Amino acid sequence: MAELIDGKQIAADIRAEVAQAVKQLAAQSVKPGLAVVLAGEDLASAVYVRMKAKACEEVGIHSRVILLPAETNQAELEKIIDELNADPAIHGILVQLPLPPQIAERSIIWRIDPAKDVDAFHPVNVGRLAVGDSDAFRPATPAGVIELLLRSGHDPSGKLAAVVGRSNIVGRPLATLLSLNAKGGNATVTVCHSRTPNLFGITRQADIVVAAIGRPEFITKEAVQPGAVVIDVGVNRVDDAGSEKGYRLVGDVAFDEVAEIAGAITPVPGGVGPMTIAMLLSNCVKAARSIASTA
Ligand code: GUN
Repeated sequence: MAELIDGKQIAADIRAEVAQAVKQLAAQSVKPGLAVVLAGEDLASAVYVRMKAKACEEVGIHSRVILLPAETNQAELEKIIDELNADPAIHGILVQLPLPPQIAERSIIWRIDPAKDVDAFHPVNVGRLAVGDSDAFRPATPAGVIELLLRSGHDPSGKLAAVVGRSNIVGRPLATLLSLNAKGGNATVTVCHSRTPNLFGITRQADIVVAAIGRPEFITKEAVQPGAVVIDVGVNRVDDAGSEKGYRLVGDVAFDEVAEIAGAITPVPGGVGPMTIAMLLSNCVKAARSIASTA
C-alpha cells in the first residue's frame, strides 16, 4: 500500500507559517488584504470563494469578497479591477475563474496590477516564472504540488515527471516549476494531454505522475509504475445514488487501485485542494511585503 501524502497536514503547517509572517508584518503596521471577485452563480466557485475568505481570516489576512451578478459586463468588471488596483488596503486580487461567457477573461487578467496578481496568471508573472525569477509569484495549485512533494520527502530533482494536463492554471505552470533549475525543480518533465499518443506508456516511465486533466479516475494502475509518486489535482463530481448528496468527489486518479502499487499518493479530498488555499495565503503575504517595501 502506498504512503498517503497528507495535504491537510502539510497545508496546516504552511498556514501556521503564514500566520507567523502576518504577525511580523503587523509589527510594521502592514495588514495583508485579499480581494476575491466572483461573477455569477457557479456553485463550486462560490464554495471555493467562501473557503478562500475564511482561510484568510484565520491567518489574519483581511479579505474582501465582491459578488457580482452573472450579467455583469466587461466595463463594470474592469472598473472594479481598476479600483482594487488603486486600493492601498488590498495587496492581492483574485478573480475567480471561469468568468461568465460575455466577459473576455484574458483582458480582465491582463488588467490586474501584476504586483497584486496573487494567482500569478498575468503574463508578466507567467514570464517571470518561466525565466526563473526566484521572486516571482508561483500559481497556487502548481506551487502546492511542489510543496507537497518537497515536504513529504519526494524532491523532484533528478526524477522523471509526467504532468497529465496542459491548462494555464495547473499543467503548464507546473511543468515550468518542475523543470526549473531551482529548489523543487530539476526534474525531467513530459507534458501529456488529450492528443498524446500512448499516454500511459509515458506515464508508466515516470517517477512522479501528476494528474490534472479533469477526467474522473483517468489514471488507472496501468498508467503507473510500481513505486511511483502520484499527485492527484482533479476534483470531479460523479453521480452516486448511494450517497446523501447524490454525488461524490473523485480525483483524476483511480485511487484504490493505484494506491496498491504506487509508492506514495495524495487523496481527494485532502491532498492538493488544501494546498491551493495555503499557497494563495502565502502569495498574499508575499504581495503585501513586496508592496510595503516599495511604498
Ligand atoms: N478556478 C479554478 N482554479 C482557480 C484558481 O486557482 N484561481 C482562480 N482565480 N480561479 C480558479
